[in-house]
Amino acid sequence: MAFTIAIDGPAAAGKGTISRAVAAHFGFAHLDTGLLYRAVGRKMLDGVDPIRAAQELLPADLQVQGLRTAAVGQAASRVAAIPEVRAALLDFQRAFARRDGGAVLDGRDIGTVICPEAEAKLFVTASAEVRARRRFEELVAGGAETDFETVLAETRERDHRDATRADAPLKPAQDAQMIDTSELDVEAAVAAAISAVEARSLEHVKG
Ligand code: CDP
Repeated sequence: MAFTIAIDGPAAAGKGTISRAVAAHFGFAHLDTGLLYRAVGRKMLDGVDPIRAAQELLPADLQVQGLRTAAVGQAASRVAAIPEVRAALLDFQRAFARRDGGAVLDGRDIGTVICPEAEAKLFVTASAEVRARRRFEELVAGGAETDFETVLAETRERDHRDATRADAPLKPAQDAQMIDTSELDVEAAVAAAISAVEARSLEHVKG
């Protein structure tokens, strides 16, 4: 049986951590769709045409080191605005969403475009400052040399580009449940996400 949990939201809102924990909790498969765009962005930085890169993307391309850097994040959001790139990645994501046994997908357009029929839709946010602080700490822990102001500016730039593009812009689905993690630690954010999914699945069972 298919059961899709769509988790969307802006950069560094905590979608990755929440999605992995929610998938483990329900025993569902997890797909970080941002990684697809990061892999295409990486290829563009290497000089490959992004549309071609998306059409020919292989599982091994997702294993490449360094996909989480800020430079690759910016490249990802640039290629993500190209409709042909998004189209090339659509079928794989849709098939993953409806696989047997349940799936959690995190991204920007899962509840709106990839899987509008998802049984549960969450939109995870936090203030730009809180998100930039988390991303800054992540980058520094990974050995990057950067400062908070740069990360904050990059976070805002990427959110703006993602929210204003014409094709599949970042926005909550009409029936999404909002989770603001600004004041929540990881444990509390995960608990909030799990109860939101449980509330929806009860409604679903009741019809
Ligand atoms: O982890 P973080 O939130 O920083 O970014 P990500 O989820 O890895 O996504 C990187 C970029 O890919 C985003 O800024 C979006 O431009 C793009 N993306 C998208 O357009 N649609 C998705 N479903 C997932 C990511």
